[in-house]
Amino acid sequence: MGSKKRMTGENDHDILVGLDLGTTNTTVMIAEREESGMNVIGLGTSPSLGMKNGVVVNIEQTVDSIIQSVEEAERMANVSVDSVYTVVSGDHIRSVNSKGMIAVGRSNNGIGNKITREDIQRVIETAQTVQFPADREVLHVIPQDFLVDNRDGFKDPVGIVGLRLEATVHIITAAQAAAQTILYCLQEVKTYSEELVLQALAASHAVLTGDEKELGVALVDIGGGTTDIAVFYDGAIRHTSVIPLGGESVTRDLAHGLRVPRNEAEELKLESGCAHSSLANSAKEIVLTGNNERPDRHVTPDIINSIIQPRMEEIFDLLIKDLRQAEVLQKLTAGIVFTGGASLIPGTVELAEEVFALPARLGKPVGLGRLSELADSPVHAVAAGLVLHGAKQQDAINRGLRVQRRKRKPARFASGRFENIKRMIADIF
Ligand SMILES: Nc1ncnc2c1ncn2[C@@H]1O[C@H](COP(=O)(O)OP(=O)(O)OP(=O)(O)O)[C@@H](O)[C@H]1O
Ligand SMILES: [Mg+2]
Repeated sequence: MGSKKRMTGENDHDILVGLDLGTTNTTVMIAEREESGMNVIGLGTSPSLGMKNGVVVNIEQTVDSIIQSVEEAERMANVSVDSVYTVVSGDHIRSVNSKGMIAVGRSNNGIGNKITREDIQRVIETAQTVQFPADREVLHVIPQDFLVDNRDGFKDPVGIVGLRLEATVHIITAAQAAAQTILYCLQEVKTYSEELVLQALAASHAVLTGDEKELGVALVDIGGGTTDIAVFYDGAIRHTSVIPLGGESVTRDLAHGLRVPRNEAEELKLESGCAHSSLANSAKEIVLTGNNERPDRHVTPDIINSIIQPRMEEIFDLLIKDLRQAEVLQKLTAGIVFTGGASLIPGTVELAEEVFALPARLGKPVGLGRLSELADSPVHAVAAGLVLHGAKQQDAINRGLRVQRRKRKPARFASGRFENIKRMIADIF
C-alpha cells in the first residue's frame, strides 16, 4: 500500500466500511475484498455518549464518537473513509410480512412464459404496496418465497415457466426521524451512507450458518440499550423486532441494588457478573470500597447474580412474548444464537436454554479473513455483519440483480438546521 490513502468512494468497491452506531460503543470496521475473501484491515471503537436505547439523542456527541472511531480505523487501515454501511436500531423499528402477485402472461402455445428477472422485480414491487404512515421509512424489502402457479418452494424462479408469480416479502421500517438523524450525523462528518441496515440483520450475516437459517433460528443481539431480534426459517428472514433493554439496564440495577456509582456497577458486572445462579461462586468476597460517609462493604457473586438474573429473565420473557406473538417460537429448531456485549455475561446461554427450553450458543463473527482476530467477539458481530452485507449488495449489483442505490444524504435538512433535528429527536421519545 502506498503512502497515498485509498478512498472508499464511488468506484472502489474493494473496500467496505461498517459503522456500528451502538448505545454503548461506536465501532468502525474497514474490510478489504481480495480473491481469498474479506479481510479486516482496520477497526476503531469509542464510547457512544449521544445514544439512548439505539437512537441518536445528541448529535454533537454522536458526531464526536463517529469521528474518533473512523479516525482510529483509518489510521490502522491507511484508508480514507467517505462512505459507510450504517446500523439502525431502536424500538421504533416495525416489520411486516406481505404478499404480491403478477400475471407472467400466456405464451403462444398457451402454457405460460419463462419467468424473467424483471418479473421478479415487478412482483416484489407489488408486494411492497403496503401503506405506511408518512413518518415511516422503508429500510428493507427482503424476498422470502416465490410461488409459481401455486407451487411453492422457489427461492429464485428465473427460467421457470408459469402463468402466475407470487412473492412473499419481509418489510422492515423505521421512524423517519431516527433514520434521518443518523444520515444527518454522517453528513456532519462528510461521509455518505451506502445503506442503513437493521442491526439484527447485519449481525445475522456474521454469525448464523446457512443450516441454522434453514432449520429455524433466532438471532438475539443483547447490546447496551437494545435487544435486537431476527428470526429465520426455511432459509429466509421471517420476523424482526427490537426490545429497548440491554446491558445498561443490568448496570443500572446493580448501581441501585448495591448503592454504588454507575461506573463501579459496570466494573462489578464485567468482573463478577453472572446470569445463572448455578455459576455464581458464593465463597468469593468482593470489596466495595467505601468513602468518607460509608465504610467498606463486602458482597459475594451470588448477591450480584440475584440482581442480574431477574433482569436477564425479564429480557427473555419479553423475547418469548414477542416470538409467540409473531408465531415463530415453535419454528426455532436450531434454537437461539446470542451476540452483543451483554450476551458475554457468564451464564446467559445457560439461562436462555432453561427459559426457552431450546439450544443456545454465543455467536462470534465468521466469514472474515486476515486480522479477523480483531473482530473475534460477539461485540463486533454487527460491524462485521455490515461489511459482509455490503459485500453481498455489491455482488448483487455486479451481477445485475440489484440497482446501485444513490448514496444517501439526509432528505430535509441539507442546510443543517439543528433545531429541526432536535425537535425530531424529542418526537421519538
Ligand atoms: N465481557 C462482558 N461481560 C459482560 N458484559 C459486557 C461485556 N462486554 C460488554 N458488556 C456489556 O455489553 C454492553 C455493550 O454491548 P454492545 O457493545 O454490543 O452494545 P451497543 O452495540 O453499543 O448497544 P446497542 O446495540 O444496544 O445499541 C454494555 O452494557 C457492556 O457492559
Ligand atoms: Mg449493538
